Amino acid sequence: MDPSDILLTDQVAIVTGGGQGIGEGIALGFAKFGANVVIADKVAESGERVAKLIRETGREGLAITTDIRELDQVQAMVERTKQELGRVDILVNNAGGTRYAPFLDLGQRGWHRHMQLNFDGLFGPTDAAVRAMLEGGRGGSIINIASIEALRAAPMFSVYAACKAGMVNFTRSLALELAEHGIRVNAIAPDVVMTPHLEEFANSGAGGTSEARDRGIPLQRTGNLDDCAGAAVFLASSMASYITGITLSVDGGTYASSGWTRNKDGVWGLFH
Ligand SMILES: NC(=O)c1ccc[n+]([C@@H]2O[C@H](COP(=O)([O-])OP(=O)(O)OC[C@H]3O[C@@H](n4cnc5c(N)ncnc54)[C@H](O)[C@@H]3O)[C@@H](O)[C@H]2O)c1
Repeated sequence: MDPSDILLTDQVAIVTGGGQGIGEGIALGFAKFGANVVIADKVAESGERVAKLIRETGREGLAITTDIRELDQVQAMVERTKQELGRVDILVNNAGGTRYAPFLDLGQRGWHRHMQLNFDGLFGPTDAAVRAMLEGGRGGSIINIASIEALRAAPMFSVYAACKAGMVNFTRSLALELAEHGIRVNAIAPDVVMTPHLEEFANSGAGGTSEARDRGIPLQRTGNLDDCAGAAVFLASSMASYITGITLSVDGGTYASSGWTRNKDGVWGLFH
């Protein structure tokens, strides 16, 4: 083992939804560790902004406006990645999201919207990137951004939680199928990370006060972009070359705590 094993020098990574939030953090983390990065975001300006930040680190940063739900756009994005950057080594399936809503308010359209973004949207980027990785013959690393809600029940987020749970088992199953090609497939399960998306939830009142959030998380703070980027860099690097099929919790210990929290006096209990 060598400290340089954590580096991603000259590898090519695609980050879906890399134009803000967790995807932006991961894209910039990859660039800092030597990778060239494609930002596949549906919002052109967001993708361009992050690609520029990547180029400022001295790496290649390419924004290719892509809606992950549109197969032709996704296939064109992977083709352009191969043409302009020569290869595909890493894919991060990050684009996704939800809103606080009772199940009965979703209706069939809301149900389909959630499924299309958070589950069906895994198909195109994964299919096209795996084909490119197989062509390259050097293996690869796929990282799916799941959620702590994949691992526990999530009232008011039922369809999102189901999609993310599906993602976790897709991760495990695909990991086995692709292992013989040296393509590793893992997931990351964050808890609360204060991205633009989460600010909305927190401001709605349902997300609790920042004091309550920090108290509810064993490591006593919400997650940040570097927490997620660190996990992604590790999983993408050869430091993790024997790791496939796992879901790495990046949650300050929340999943382990399973309902145990500290009260305002710092006393651990179950029903504060
Ligand atoms: N923020 C959190 O606390 C948290 C916790 C657990 C899991 N996650 C997951 O992490 C991922 C990123 O979350 P975030 O909070 O950074 O979100 P965000 O809404 O802040 O950013 C999402 C990005 O994805 C892009 N995007 C949305 N739909 C797209 C589509 N169809 N095609 C391409 N790009 C699209 C958006 O333009 C945006 O740039 C999501 O999958 C989310 O479910 C987030």
